[in-house]
Amino acid sequence: MAIIAPSLLAADFLRLWDECKMINESEAEWFHLDVMDGRFVPNISFGLPVIEHIRKTTKKECDVHLMIVEPEKYTTAFKEAGADRLTVHYEACTHLHRNVEMIRQLGMKAGVALNPHTPVLLLKEILPYIDQVCIMSVNPGFGGQQFIPTSLKKIAELKQMIRESGYPVLIQVDGGVSVNNAAALVNAGADVLVAGSNVFKAENPTAAIAQLKKAGSF
Ligand code: DX5
Ligand code: ZN
Repeated sequence: MAIIAPSLLAADFLRLWDECKMINESEAEWFHLDVMDGRFVPNISFGLPVIEHIRKTTKKECDVHLMIVEPEKYTTAFKEAGADRLTVHYEACTHLHRNVEMIRQLGMKAGVALNPHTPVLLLKEILPYIDQVCIMSVNPGFGGQQFIPTSLKKIAELKQMIRESGYPVLIQVDGGVSVNNAAALVNAGADVLVAGSNVFKAENPTAAIAQLKKAGSF
């Protein structure tokens, strides 16, 4: 049974209150919040003040995905803004171990995200220190892109690595997730499905979440 984490990047920002309420009342378990700095990725989204406000209305865990350079500079600030889970990019961290330790010391769950070109094998030594891995199944920076099919193999490979390690690390998949690939993703080993446009651009977002949940449960 996969965890569903709708990404607010695709929400209507003029109606954020309603969009959060919709997630609160849906079958989704987490809020996925994408922070982009225009440096690590070629796009700028939203940051600390928006998350701080959103957190006042969310009744579910807030999973913050940092697509920024030097994420270590902002770890405490995101904790104070209300992040429950904080994911940094492997490609953005020279001292990844120090960064994830800091995230955990502050009482958050620590995640590491991998760009599509980054092999899962590079995570071998960090698995004991993290709670989740985010497999990017599109190049980070934008919503609404096409799923990169080779991500399925990466998920399966990572699942095997995690099993062998014995550490309870969740696999999250982010980018181009839809009701059409949800079952294959869960089958390959995904525990968390992040979906932006396929939830918020749907005619009925609550139903779209329920469909994803159903497609990912077996
Ligand atoms: C992309 C973000 C994703 C994005 C997914 O860089 O990390 O979370 O919102 O959007 P969709 O589901 O539309 O591909
Ligand atoms: Zn994301």
